[in-house]
Amino acid sequence: MKALLFFGLVAIALADVTRFEGEKVFRLKPVLDEHVTFIKDMAKDITVDFWSPESPELVATNIDVDIRVPAMYLDIVYTRLQQSEMEYKVLIEDVQAAIDESGPAPRAHSYIKYNTLADIQTWIDTVVSANAGLVSKQVIGNSYEGRPMTVIKIGKASSSAKPAIFMDCGIHAREWISPAFCQWFVKEAVETYGSDSAMTSLLDQMDVYVLPVFNVDGYDYTHKSDRMWRKTRSKNSGSCVGTDPNRNFNAGWCTIGASSNPCSDTYCGSVPESEIEVKNVANFIRNKKSVIKAYLTIHSYSQLLLFPYSYTYDLAPDHTELLQLAEGASAALRSLHNTRYTSGPGAATIYPAAGGSDDWAYDLGVKYSFTFELRDTGRYGFLLPTTQIQPTCEETMLAVKYIAAYVQKNLY
Ligand code: ARG
Ligand code: ZN
Repeated sequence: MKALLFFGLVAIALADVTRFEGEKVFRLKPVLDEHVTFIKDMAKDITVDFWSPESPELVATNIDVDIRVPAMYLDIVYTRLQQSEMEYKVLIEDVQAAIDESGPAPRAHSYIKYNTLADIQTWIDTVVSANAGLVSKQVIGNSYEGRPMTVIKIGKASSSAKPAIFMDCGIHAREWISPAFCQWFVKEAVETYGSDSAMTSLLDQMDVYVLPVFNVDGYDYTHKSDRMWRKTRSKNSGSCVGTDPNRNFNAGWCTIGASSNPCSDTYCGSVPESEIEVKNVANFIRNKKSVIKAYLTIHSYSQLLLFPYSYTYDLAPDHTELLQLAEGASAALRSLHNTRYTSGPGAATIYPAAGGSDDWAYDLGVKYSFTFELRDTGRYGFLLPTTQIQPTCEETMLAVKYIAAYVQKNLY
């Protein structure tokens, strides 16, 4: 017993987990240019973690700015906020308490828990073995730290090439609801194939490729060391680690809404596809370019359904069709729990930001390219409680199935 306790303590000490006691998440409401300057200046002086938008470069007037502030800076932040006369509120009183409340660490794989990477990897093998004729897996490459990136292929076997949909989750490490949704999608697909007519027809005619965790190193890191990590875990010159994988695609790379500073949470990397995870996914999609008809990428939070472009304000050639499809999908999503989504092109709807996977896939020729930002709108942000996994996944299924059915009807 004593030995157990001892090794337990050693394990905790070795794990060196970042804690967030007393930290708060603020929502700032800049309406004047001075407010924007104030926020950017504050970000230069003290380390604050931008939740939404994801870095100070993206701050502009009339957008809500959610920031996590370390306990040691609370006094200065309060003082400065008074001086600025900007409207603000506290979204999360104690980040560590919110982490603890967001749900217990799972002891085994569960669709209503935030599973560890190890549990997701074992789960993949289980689903594949249990659904031999319908599901298979393929490692598309290894991550920077050597973890396999596994794509699950779902679809009735066919002798001829089938059109396909590609969906990834977990580009950003801390957006835990995203991998949870990819797992849910796979579960629903295998459980409803043969009984649900839409799912049956979809998987008879098309294949769906699901990458449940894109940023495997980052995701593992958020479970073991730092719950708030966003980027990859690759080494840069200097001491700051990681690149933003959603700024690292070759689409207007690093021209806007991205940072060339390796310490930034929106660092675009040294060159496009510098991140092996990005290269692996880009290679996979390029190789299957002729069959992939839709690209879906799942993030959180903000309740948005975005489509190209984000690297420019120019409207995409298919703007009207994409907008209509996004609005239909959002309405389907809302029909279940009345969750409201905003849809539109990335640049105009949130902020311009280059190097994203959606724009890259679109310019490659994948017409139906969408970014989902799942629940919520900031009450919990990335720390969405496990009690919301099921409702979030159920409503998102409706939107994804709406898009899939449309793509199936409009093959090109
Ligand atoms: N919050 C997401 C991000 O910053 C939005 C992605 C929208 N698409 C884009 N290409 N920027 O990565
Ligand atoms: Zn994201």
